[in-house]
Amino acid sequence: MDVLIRPMKLEDISQVHEIDVQSFSLPWPERSFRYELTENQTSRLWVAEVGDPGDARIVAMMVLWLILDEAHIGTIAVHSDYRRMGIGRKLLAHALLHAVDEGVASVFLEVRRSNHTAQSLYAQFGFTLDGIRPRYYQDTGEDALLLSLSGLQEAPTRANLLKILLSQSGEQALMGG
Ligand SMILES: CC(C)(COP(=O)(O)OP(=O)(O)OC[C@H]1O[C@@H](n2cnc3c(N)ncnc32)[C@H](O)[C@@H]1OP(=O)(O)O)[C@@H](O)C(=O)NCCC(=O)NCCS
Repeated sequence: MDVLIRPMKLEDISQVHEIDVQSFSLPWPERSFRYELTENQTSRLWVAEVGDPGDARIVAMMVLWLILDEAHIGTIAVHSDYRRMGIGRKLLAHALLHAVDEGVASVFLEVRRSNHTAQSLYAQFGFTLDGIRPRYYQDTGEDALLLSLSGLQEAPTRANLLKILLSQSGEQALMGG
């Protein structure tokens, strides 16, 4: 299966929102994606799609905020029918490599304490635990783990991102911008 990773467009938003709703108990309203795309200069929004041009389907999305030499992962999710195929890993590697090209040296995120799947993904990239925000999530009162990855401008870290991007797990990722 070919997976194309490319910048998000306005016409992607309904499919992106669908993925968000099925992935999170506190999804963003559609207008938030519209705002991030059209108004927020610090946002970098990516999607992964499969299928032929003209009949393609969005299967994953990600939002990254860049502030000076830091990036913050706003959200990342893969459609439930397309999980565990290496798409989330490639999407994250792709977005981070673009952020590195824009001068980013460190990346930060919050993840639910119970979300071992995502934590396992981040561990593959070398993210480490910085701290805990107690009762961060409003719906369940669950703690957030604060993770970060530094040294993105350093050759070994960049090389690791490229290795992850190019690693094969049944599908070929194509670079779309
Ligand atoms: C987290 C998420 C984005 C991972 O995307 P994905 O495309 O399924 O992940 P990949 O196939 O690229 O897997 C990458 C790694 O993540 C981990 N992982 C993915 N699915 C997993 C699962 N079901 N159980 C345990 N680890 C898992 C593994 O470490 C995996 O590497 P491996 O296959 O070599 O073992 C996806 O599960 C998702 O959308 N979850 C709901 C939204 C979410 O939790 N987002 C993160 C918010 S912080």
